[in-house]
Amino acid sequence: MNTYLRMLRRVRPYLPQVVASVLLTFLYSLLTAATILLVRPTFSTLFAATDPPAAVAEQTAPERSSSTAAEAVPFDDTLGLKDRLDLAYRDFEAWLLEGSNLDALQRVVIIIFFVFLAKNLAHYASTVLTNWLGLRLIKDMRDDVFARLLELPLGFFHRHRAGELISRATNDVQIANKTVNVSFTNLVRDPAQIVGYLAVCLWISWKLTLLAFLVLPLSMLVIVSIGKRLRRYSHRQQERMADLTSVLQETVYGIRVVKAFAMERFERRKYLAESARVFVDMFKIARTNRLSSPLSEQMAVIVGAVILWFGGRQVFVEQTLEPEAFLTFLAAMFSMLHPIKELSQVNNGIQEGMAAAERLFEILDSPAEAGADPELPDLPAGPGRVEFRDVHFAYLPGEPVLQGIDLLAEPGQVVALVGSSGAGKSTLVDLIPRFYDPQQGQVLVDGHDVRTVSLRSLRERLGIVTQEVILFNDTVRNNIAYGLGEVAHGQLEEAARAANAHDFIMRMPDGYDTLIGDRGTKLSGGQRQRLSIARAILKNPPILILDEATSALDTESEQLVQEAIDRLVQDRTTFVIAHRLSTIRSADRIYALKAGRIVESGSHGTLLAAGGVYADLYNLQFRAQETGG
Ligand SMILES: Nc1ncnc2c1ncn2[C@@H]1O[C@H](COP(=O)(O)OP(=O)(O)O)[C@@H](O)[C@H]1O
Ligand SMILES: [Mg+2]
Repeated sequence: MNTYLRMLRRVRPYLPQVVASVLLTFLYSLLTAATILLVRPTFSTLFAATDPPAAVAEQTAPERSSSTAAEAVPFDDTLGLKDRLDLAYRDFEAWLLEGSNLDALQRVVIIIFFVFLAKNLAHYASTVLTNWLGLRLIKDMRDDVFARLLELPLGFFHRHRAGELISRATNDVQIANKTVNVSFTNLVRDPAQIVGYLAVCLWISWKLTLLAFLVLPLSMLVIVSIGKRLRRYSHRQQERMADLTSVLQETVYGIRVVKAFAMERFERRKYLAESARVFVDMFKIARTNRLSSPLSEQMAVIVGAVILWFGGRQVFVEQTLEPEAFLTFLAAMFSMLHPIKELSQVNNGIQEGMAAAERLFEILDSPAEAGADPELPDLPAGPGRVEFRDVHFAYLPGEPVLQGIDLLAEPGQVVALVGSSGAGKSTLVDLIPRFYDPQQGQVLVDGHDVRTVSLRSLRERLGIVTQEVILFNDTVRNNIAYGLGEVAHGQLEEAARAANAHDFIMRMPDGYDTLIGDRGTKLSGGQRQRLSIARAILKNPPILILDEATSALDTESEQLVQEAIDRLVQDRTTFVIAHRLSTIRSADRIYALKAGRIVESGSHGTLLAAGGVYADLYNLQFRAQETGG
């Protein structure tokens, strides 16, 4: 229920449209019910066709308006209101049927034309408006989910698969809005129509109406239980759809690996299995959905049969009901079937939508990245001094990754982090841009705890180059200037030259305006890396983080990249995690990490002489590089 209210609350910005749509829907429903009242005069005109025209004019009109209580009692009389309604309707009918048969027919035809015209105009206007509302809501929801995804902390993306999130932001948004759409069309239109028809029925014979509605609670019970089942199926189907999207997305992104390992058949089987599950669930939903409509119609037919029997008796045997009135009653009763049928689907639509809505609210309710708070002050300009004070960090409770880290990088210094794979080097540098927050201790930039300044100002101060380069499907120019807005071409080219990227960019078909293609797959690893260095040079940050920036490269491109990096680190505080000895040896200070602790620190010479962890690593990893060249 809470989810339901929250979904409905999303229409609040569109209150005028909602009110207009509801009013139009009401108008449409009223006019629809009113068309029933034309049944009787239409029949009267046609049945009267055998009578001489004059007789109709003389006979029917006065007789009908005066014979309220007499022999042929056309309507039950129970209410004062009812009497007045009877009279008004009789007057209307008398006016309609006045004159010759053909005159009457003409009037009936004209009235029918205009009532239906008005009804259909109202119908068109109300459905267009409701569809507009629905599409707006889908758009709002989609946009909100995307905006939220941007604000969520990195940890959230480790916990959820990319395909699942994509599925939620697309499939689930679509489904969730069923709840609102259905609520606004069916929950307004169908009850309004039912009430309209019901009023006509009650007016003609409250006894017969009562009889009909004795059977109603039974059908309600069936409808509610179908709805419950549908929600359960829906939940499962949406989860499976997310699984399917996940497999699809992983295959598309990892297509090189899939092909390289000849895993097409494996991936295909994996996909087919998921796909089959989605099919089964979707079919179950469809089956259940399709069941409710014939089921409720069958129930309505039971009601209809009962009515026909008892009503027919009143006409033939007891003669307490005029045949034309009974016809109108039946028309109203059977017209009620459609809205009742639709209404039985309402619950289904709502339940299906709610399952999706719950998954969306899960994203929307996830807490945003800490420090996205716009109230936090900006980090004041500074030389770029970075300090870790007794920092402890764990991704998962009870599994510490960093323990008691104390570290200092003076402005302009190069600090190297060494340690075996999994020692915590990447985690340590990830704390500087606040990708994660330490559970204990402080990370300070120019004397300010990173948690006390705005994320934006903090990250503006940092340049990050990692082994994995993420490029966007855009031009070379926009990829280099990513996040910087308009940049003069001279500056851009200067950065590209410093990054040893200018030459290969100029060899591309459109130079700086060449489209990189999806994630830059058309570029070599070294080229991608140099673009990412050009990005960092152009950004010109006082603090630089290089996390294995050259690890994935061959010797030739490594040379070019290394030159670029040497230019990049000048006059910046730099954290470097590298497998190249030259980078590490020239560092101002080296920190050796082991299982999340700093075990040694100092210059290359002192650490080597000390013969500890660094010396071991040196002997194991770097010595070959030194002797080899
Ligand atoms: N997102 C994560 N969730 C849980 N554990 C992680 C995550 N990232 C890294 N780890 C774990 O933290 C430890 C340190 O990882 P990392 O900092 O990447 O090491 P390094 O960069 O020194 O190779 C490893 O044991 C790794 O398994
Ligand atoms: Mg790492």
